[in-house]
Amino acid sequence: MEEARQPEGAQQREETQQPEEAQQPEEMDHARRLINSADRILILTGAGVSAESGVPTFRGSDGLWGKYRPEELATPEAFQADPRLVWEWYGVRRERVGACRPNAAHEAIARLTLEREGARLVTQNVDGLHELALEEAVSNGAYSRSSASGAAPIRLHGSLFGTRCTGCDYRTMDRHPVDVENEASLPRCGKCAALLRPDVVWFGEQLDPGILQSAVEAAETAEVCLVVGTSALVHPAASLPLLTRESGGVVVEVNTEPTPLTEVAVVSIRGPAGQILPHLLSVEPER
Ligand code: OAD
Repeated sequence: MEEARQPEGAQQREETQQPEEAQQPEEMDHARRLINSADRILILTGAGVSAESGVPTFRGSDGLWGKYRPEELATPEAFQADPRLVWEWYGVRRERVGACRPNAAHEAIARLTLEREGARLVTQNVDGLHELALEEAVSNGAYSRSSASGAAPIRLHGSLFGTRCTGCDYRTMDRHPVDVENEASLPRCGKCAALLRPDVVWFGEQLDPGILQSAVEAAETAEVCLVVGTSALVHPAASLPLLTRESGGVVVEVNTEPTPLTEVAVVSIRGPAGQILPHLLSVEPER
C-alpha cells in the first residue's frame, strides 16, 4: 500500500563520511563528560532515533509516510470522518514498523538505562523499538529482568500496537493485521461493540496525565537531558528539556539537523543517532 522508499539515507552517509567520533571530538568529549558525571539523566527520543532502523520520520529531510499526511490522519476528527482510512494508515505503519529492528542507538540507550539507575527514558515514539532493545539486552543474559522493568520507557504518545475502545475503557495490545476492507470489517470492542481505535495520542488530544507527570518529574530532576532525533516541534514533549534547564540542568542534543532546541543545548552533536550514541554512551561513570 505504501510507496516503496529507501529509508536508510543514513546508510549511504555512513560510506562517505568520517566516523562521527572524529568529526566533533570536542563536542563529543564535552557531552560525554556531562553524561558521565550526572546522577540523573533524562533521555528524550523522537522519530529520528528509529530512522536508521528503517522507520520513516514525520518531518525533516527523511520524513515521509508515503501517500498519507500524518497531520491530517492522526486526529480524532479524521477517525470520526473516515475510520477505515485512518486504520489503513495505521495498518501500513504496523506492518512496516513490525518488520524493523532496533539499531545501535536503541541498544546504547537500553544499556545506559539498564546500567544507570538514575537514567530515565522518555520517548515520543510509538514503534516499540526501545522496548525491543531492552528485551533483547535482557534475553542476551547480560541484565536481569527486574532491572529491565525499571528501565522501561515512559511512552508519551502510546503504542502503534495498542488498541483501545472508542466507547468504553477496554484497551489491549494486538499485533495482528487489521482488516481494512471496509468499515464493517474494522475491529470492534468485545465488551461494548464500539469501534476500536489505535491507542496513540492524536493531535488535539491530551496526554495521559499520569504519564506526563512522570516525564515532567524526570525532566525537572535531571542534571542532563539528552535529546535524540526529535524535531522538537510537538509539545508538551518538546518542553521537557526546557524544564531540565529551568531546574538547573543542561541539554545535550543529537540530531542530523538543527532544531529549536539547538540554541538551548550546551552541546549539539550533528549526525545519525545510530553512529553517535554508541560512542557517546560508551564510557562508565567516573565515580
Ligand atoms: P519528527 O519527524 O518531527 O522529527 C524527526 C527528527 O529526527 C528531525 O529533527 C530529524 O532531523 C531527526 N533525524 C532524522 N534522522 C535522524 C538520525 N538518523 N539520527 C538523529 N536524528 C535524526 O519526529 P518527532 O520529533 O518524533 O506525534 O515528532 C514528534 C511527534 O510528531 C511524533 O511523536 C508524532 C508526530 O506527529 C504523534 O503521533 C502524536
